[in-house]
Amino acid sequence: MSSRRLAKNQPTDFKLSKKALKEIEVWAKKYPKDRRRSALIPALWIAQKDADGWLPEMAIRELGDLLGMAYIRVYEVATFYTMFNLEPVGTHHIQLCGTTPCWLRGAGELKKVCESKIGPKGSVSADGKLSWIEVECLGACANAPMVQISNADGDDYYEDLTEENFGKLIDDLAAGRPVKAGPQNDRHTSEPTGGASTLNTKGLYNKIKAKKLPNSQAKKAAAKKKVKS
Ligand code: FES
Repeated sequence: MSSRRLAKNQPTDFKLSKKALKEIEVWAKKYPKDRRRSALIPALWIAQKDADGWLPEMAIRELGDLLGMAYIRVYEVATFYTMFNLEPVGTHHIQLCGTTPCWLRGAGELKKVCESKIGPKGSVSADGKLSWIEVECLGACANAPMVQISNADGDDYYEDLTEENFGKLIDDLAAGRPVKAGPQNDRHTSEPTGGASTLNTKGLYNKIKAKKLPNSQAKKAAAKKKVKS
């Protein structure tokens, strides 16, 4: 992973909202008073949502003060995880998985779609609506290739992508049209394409032929009988 640093252009003023402070406090209170720093990851996430999807340096310092941590410790965590954005992002921020299963299934083609519709990796589109980065495995390899898209409504996975359906998805987001999260083909979650098969196989379970298991009472009685004999 390339090194991640704070954005060169920082806001001159930033303060976490009352709502964000309240939410962070809920997390901090889950830990003993001298372990408030254990709430750092959810706190960074809340701060990022509060700051339009990215973490300005002032937010990082404020979290350090809130959780009783050295600023460098907050910085270390924020720069380690790609889920934390250190530069401003678009209204819809795309994290494109480029790890082997997604790569083998066409992530390279999806990158080209991002480059042509948004710009080079890490950039924000001219109208500010879209941005994209490449990340490591997001844990949905069964539906490769896939992306996570974050916006004010939440963070969703979009899976089983092709150049065509991904291009359309990006166009719909940019135009403000509704989009459907999850697999972009007719697949249900991560079931086999065409629908579940295993549990529908006739004869897989034959109720009549199945041997009845002894109930627990009968088992106990049999055990007693064995001990007596
Ligand atoms: S490799 Fe892409 S989700 Fe796992």
